[in-house]
Amino acid sequence: MSMKTIIPSVLIGMLLLFQTNCSNKRYEHGEILYQNFCANCHMEDGTGLVGNIPPLAGADYLAKEREKLACIIRYGIKEEIVVNGRRYTQAMEGIEQLSEAEITNVINYINTAWGNDLPFMPITEVQESLKNCRLK
Ligand code: HEC
Repeated sequence: MSMKTIIPSVLIGMLLLFQTNCSNKRYEHGEILYQNFCANCHMEDGTGLVGNIPPLAGADYLAKEREKLACIIRYGIKEEIVVNGRRYTQAMEGIEQLSEAEITNVINYINTAWGNDLPFMPITEVQESLKNCRLK
């Protein structure tokens, strides 16, 4: 094969790789993390458990408290919160082993799963939130 045929086929190969990695599902890694670390409480379909575990599917909290999400995932939360008009008082433990990239993936997954349609969160926003967790 000459360089003239090798270069285009390498480019096409890279394009195909990129497509199969990115096009089948949004935030697939975030979904796997969700299933491993969150679904046992918030449920596979994000509905939570009435009265005890707040929902993530259709939760007004995700948009209203966007800057707290990374902190909640890393450090947990034990104050009383209101989600879709219901009060929740049980504590959630932090999940400290998740990296900033993993937190970003999980947030983008919950923000777009089950009909949720919230704006993309870049890792820089997660890093900024994490810097401010303890100040609130
Ligand atoms: C052991 C059970 C448990 C696990 C595991 C858990 N949570 Fe929670 N989560 C809760 C509870 C309980 C609350 C309510 C805390 C409160 O009232 O202060 C909550 C609150 C939240 C909230 C804010 C309220 C809302 O519904 O929007 C978010 C966001 C959240 N969790 C996301 C996650 C994510 C993402 C994971 C996985 C990385 C996770 N949680 C894992 C129990 C859990």
